[in-house]
Amino acid sequence: MLYVCKECGQTSPKKMGKCFRCGKWDAFVLENNDLKTKKVINTNKTLTKISHTNAEKVKEFTTNINEMDRVLGRGMVGGSTILIGGEPGIGKSTLFLQISLKINSRVLYVSGEESENQIKIRANRIKHSNKECLIYSENKLENIFAQAEKIKPNILIIDSIQTLTTKTVDSLQGSITQLKTCTAELINFGKRTSIPVMLIGHINKDGNIAGPKVLEHMVDTVLQFEGDRNHLYRILRVKKNRFGSTNEIGIYEMVSEGLKEIINPSEILIGKSDEKLSGTAICASVEGSRPFLIEVQALVSTAVYGTPQRSTTGINSKRLNMLLAVLEKRAGFHLGSKDIFLNITGGLKVEDTGNDLAIIVAILSSNNDINVPENYCFAAEVGLSGEIRPVSRVDQRIKEAEKLGFSKIFISKYCDTTVAKKIEVVYLTSVEDLIDKIS
Ligand code: TYD
Ligand code: MG
Repeated sequence: MLYVCKECGQTSPKKMGKCFRCGKWDAFVLENNDLKTKKVINTNKTLTKISHTNAEKVKEFTTNINEMDRVLGRGMVGGSTILIGGEPGIGKSTLFLQISLKINSRVLYVSGEESENQIKIRANRIKHSNKECLIYSENKLENIFAQAEKIKPNILIIDSIQTLTTKTVDSLQGSITQLKTCTAELINFGKRTSIPVMLIGHINKDGNIAGPKVLEHMVDTVLQFEGDRNHLYRILRVKKNRFGSTNEIGIYEMVSEGLKEIINPSEILIGKSDEKLSGTAICASVEGSRPFLIEVQALVSTAVYGTPQRSTTGINSKRLNMLLAVLEKRAGFHLGSKDIFLNITGGLKVEDTGNDLAIIVAILSSNNDINVPENYCFAAEVGLSGEIRPVSRVDQRIKEAEKLGFSKIFISKYCDTTVAKKIEVVYLTSVEDLIDKIS
């Protein structure tokens, strides 16, 4: 019996208040992690020179879901392990079942959470069918491997890794030792058979995949499925990808027939209201390598209580505080006694710093109760001295804005671009400059 850190997997014979490896407090739990198998040392394997290895031998599969293929970069690579994490109810099982039903290969979908009939109810909603999709309700790893060896699937899906148990270790289902051992065995299975293995993982309250961090180090690709459960839109983000870029995102909408891919995100993310409203601004944003236009809404009102509230949805609240400090110091707006609420419509979470300018415009528009003309959009970062800084992929942003019929785009003076045809490009140097040119 050993104490194991829930965060990093460090073991200790004594219970520690703080983990001496990762520094996490109160993370040690008692576990039985005696391995029953003996280690066998093998020195017979002949090693291969890198020049003699063959990258073309590695098979790649497309999932037949464009958004998923885009996120993975090259589709699924044979023998690789993909781990997806996300809040309960966000749609992880739906996404993977949808892949199983859309793909043209044999899939073994193992569920440790739902019975075969329950999976069938979900499959009926998705309305695709794949005769080669085999479902198996099981949580013993040895049985799963036995089935997989027998039916030789092209893809193995595990829903979820936390429900699996292996006989090799004695600890409880969902414990750190079980998780680590099951993941390691699944990775080995993938490498040995060249079958891609897709794992669903639960997350803990901090938003990380439950279990030790080592899980994320072990697998080849880590995806995160996020979004607000009360909204329809979901974003699939890549946290790690050994075979492609980590910049791509996929956008989905949860409808009654499962997850629908969103091909033109801009068209749905911009509110279609005929009434002119103050406090909204459109940013020409880029997430991953794809441009899309999103709407930022701000509400500035006099604080009723002593401490003004700052509340954001979809944007980092620290970024908002920084932008407010810039407005206060560089442009003389006194927002210290105001409540400020900021929202990205559609329930999306965005990280692009190119949204800064639109955020500032939305705040000023609400504060002064002046509408921003509806065919203006913004794409620039705001620096600490109030300077308007250039952003990446500005050409793509301008083209997207032009395509959607915007008449003016505000960007940094330091952006070098000549792509604009119909749209007017307004170059800005500082926040003061913005206030002059927008009014
Ligand atoms: P689910 O895939 O079970 O989430 P997770 O595995 O991440 O916990 O998703 C469940 C939610 O999705 C549930 O609230 C119902 C909804 N849903 C739809 O709206 N449409 C559908 O076609 C399906 C299958 C689920
Ligand atoms: Mg599920």
